[in-house]
Amino acid sequence: MDGNGRWAQMRGWPRLVGHRKGAERVKQIVRAAPDLGINWLTLYAFSTENWKRSTEEVLGLMAIFARYIQREADAIAGDGVRMRFIGDRSRLDPKLQRLMSGIEAKTAHLTRLNLTVAINYGGRDEILRAIRALACEAAEGRFDPRALTEAAFTARLDTGALPDPDLVIRTSGETRTSNFLPWQAAYSEYEFTETLWPDFQIEELRAILTRFSNRERRFGAVLS
Ligand code: IPE
Ligand code: MG
Repeated sequence: MDGNGRWAQMRGWPRLVGHRKGAERVKQIVRAAPDLGINWLTLYAFSTENWKRSTEEVLGLMAIFARYIQREADAIAGDGVRMRFIGDRSRLDPKLQRLMSGIEAKTAHLTRLNLTVAINYGGRDEILRAIRALACEAAEGRFDPRALTEAAFTARLDTGALPDPDLVIRTSGETRTSNFLPWQAAYSEYEFTETLWPDFQIEELRAILTRFSNRERRFGAVLS
């Protein structure tokens, strides 16, 4: 979800206005996702690199996350959405951490949509934390390093319970992946759109999904 800041600045408004508009867009897309055939949706809300922004913007974003969880909790559960978070939570405000685990527990039985929000997420950081966990288990004799398989490693990532993404969409014209699910997206399809996130409409998502469904995915094999 990129382009909130530019969306606001183009109008001469503070960047946080763009983030609030972006959160409204999230609500719409989440509500529409199941009917578009999406069962797993992962949103990149805050990266491990986003701490470099001004204190005002960082705190404003954190407040938006907390408010979203508080205000949307009932609607999310009512819509059958299971909400999860990935990323390193330890650096987040304890109150936000409690809201996050609260809604995860409240929606753990729901299946209509699996919504994952990446907060303080970075792919390299996630991989390092998984390796650190494995190394500690090995050092304590609870894990045989020779038994390390792709499955054993994948299970220790934050996304352990999630399938790999089929499609990754980035808005706002940037054609980088910026540390988003680098391990998991190795075979994902990518779509880049010039649209800024606050302007990203359901119609555009529908068009992207149609294009995606016409792509041939070979996963390295040769299809006859
Ligand atoms: C939203 O867009 C991404 C978040 C970190 C929430 P940006 O804030 O990166 O917007 P631009 O790139 O400055 O336009
Ligand atoms: Mg940006």
